[in-house]
Amino acid sequence: MGMLDGKNILVTGVLTEGSIAFEVARLCQEQGATVVLTGVGRSLKITQAMGRRLPVEAPVVELDVTDAEHLAALADKVREHVPHLDGVVHSIGFAPQSVMGGNFMSGEWEDVSTAVHISSYSLKALAQAALPLMVKGSSIVGLTFDGRFAWPVYDWMGVAKAAMEAVNRYLARDLGQHGIRANLVSAGPIKTTAAKHIPGFEQMEGVWADRAPLGWDSSATVPTARTVTALLSDWFPATTGEMIHVDGGVHAMGQ
Ligand SMILES: NC(=O)c1ccc[n+]([C@@H]2O[C@H](COP(=O)([O-])OP(=O)(O)OC[C@H]3O[C@@H](n4cnc5c(N)ncnc54)[C@H](O)[C@@H]3O)[C@@H](O)[C@H]2O)c1
Repeated sequence: MGMLDGKNILVTGVLTEGSIAFEVARLCQEQGATVVLTGVGRSLKITQAMGRRLPVEAPVVELDVTDAEHLAALADKVREHVPHLDGVVHSIGFAPQSVMGGNFMSGEWEDVSTAVHISSYSLKALAQAALPLMVKGSSIVGLTFDGRFAWPVYDWMGVAKAAMEAVNRYLARDLGQHGIRANLVSAGPIKTTAAKHIPGFEQMEGVWADRAPLGWDSSATVPTARTVTALLSDWFPATTGEMIHVDGGVHAMGQ
């Protein structure tokens, strides 16, 4: 018996086999769920290829979270594959390099606004777009990088994550009445495409090498994906507005 038997899960953010979302999609299927993916723009075809690499081929719906038409059409497009949703995974993040890598003070609003639009506001936009399909007991799970602290090189992406964490709390407030939970997993650094785009990402890995009491493997998506999968299940029935750390324990250490 799987943890997600009979559930339908929408998974955004599958770009490569190294994407956190790819491992989430794989585990969801392993645990009995039907998975629908979303893909964006020029990488749509790559996501379709990734969908074919899953244990069960997953359909892909086009979704750029900054495109109002895509958001408005999402529920109908997903309904072509599944009648309702029990879970939505937000695994989306982007900031221009001009506002990361030590460019905090020189960051301009236009680039900062792109980071906030794609990485923070989109959590609300995705939840709203999927809401018509979500049933009582559904779960929304997003990925963050602990936005309570100032990290080396993360800069405005860190600010966008802090905003996303606030969005998660407000989603928990407003969706609780529908029986829908909203939670985040705060992962340690993992060498994905998004991470490689951050100038000086190795400095973050260095923090984890020095400070994680459990140790940390920055090439492994499995620990993070397992926690996302558990949050999608019925085993966190009264948890919402929460941020669960999957970081080897770094968040609990002092200087
Ligand atoms: N890799 C890490 O170290 C790390 C740590 C903590 C949290 N996270 C978060 O995990 C999530 C997934 O990132 P990842 O590390 O697996 O990298 P990834 O590059 O594999 O995934 C990022 C995804 O965001 C998607 N995306 C970007 N702009 C979009 C848009 N406008 N509309 C829709 N999708 C868009 C990309 O297509 C891609 O699939 C992100 O929110 C990221 O910030 C990553």
